[in-house]
Amino acid sequence: MSLPYREFYYPLNVFMHILTHEEGRVLYLHYGLFTQPDESIESAQERSTELLTQRLPPPPAKILDVGAGLGTTLSRLSARGYDILGITPDEKQIAMIGRPDVQCIRFEDLPPQPFEAIYFQESSQYIPPDPLFSQARAMTNHVIVLDEFSLRAGGTLHSFDAFLDAAQRHDFRLTEEVDLSRQAAPTIDYFNTRLERYREPLTRDLGITNEQVDDLIESGIRYRDLYRDGTYGYRLLQFNL
Ligand SMILES: C[S@@+](CC[C@H](N)C(=O)[O-])C[C@H]1O[C@@H](n2cnc3c(N)ncnc32)[C@H](O)[C@@H]1O
Repeated sequence: MSLPYREFYYPLNVFMHILTHEEGRVLYLHYGLFTQPDESIESAQERSTELLTQRLPPPPAKILDVGAGLGTTLSRLSARGYDILGITPDEKQIAMIGRPDVQCIRFEDLPPQPFEAIYFQESSQYIPPDPLFSQARAMTNHVIVLDEFSLRAGGTLHSFDAFLDAAQRHDFRLTEEVDLSRQAAPTIDYFNTRLERYREPLTRDLGITNEQVDDLIESGIRYRDLYRDGTYGYRLLQFNL
């Protein structure tokens, strides 16, 4: 079986495989933001993209999509008349997106150029906060972030306080903060309730080991607990110079 996402980095390939089988297609690599328990993950993911796009300046603004993933948000915005550049350091994603307006590069390495807004939809977690805001400072006065953070000690995600401090050190003011933790957390349940069921296809089609599936099940349960006890949280943030 030829799977275009087989070589995506682990565990993204696992989540792609489950989503592909369950939903028939995968548009996004980000959390769904659920408002009803029986809502589909795709419509919950669309809610996240909607929240993001509502905050952009109107087209034809020049926008940078950091961590373009599967390119869905980028192609929607491009169709709406935005002048948009997408970047991701993952050439497997680039091959799947198949668009000339997506470059294979890390944000930290992108030569500075002006943008009316830069957004990080679940890509800020891969970039240390100081390089992120110093690079952003050289390119824009408007940063939008949707991501999860460690709100207190005990987690391994970016510390929320350290992230806000880094923004301030580089002259960015926090102009909006929306707590989306309760809406995001059911996404973890979505995968936790399916991993065991997909053990066989995951090992057969992706070459994932049984131990890796066990680890994912265990870490999924721990992760959900960290959301439940408030160690982890999910935020929409806007920063302006
Ligand atoms: C969880 S995915 C989110 C993808 C997409 N934004 C979405 O919402 O569906 C994280 C994305 O960040 C990208 N990424 C990881 N490290 C990065 C870096 N240093 N610079 C830019 N993008 C990065 C990944 O390749 C991937 O595209």
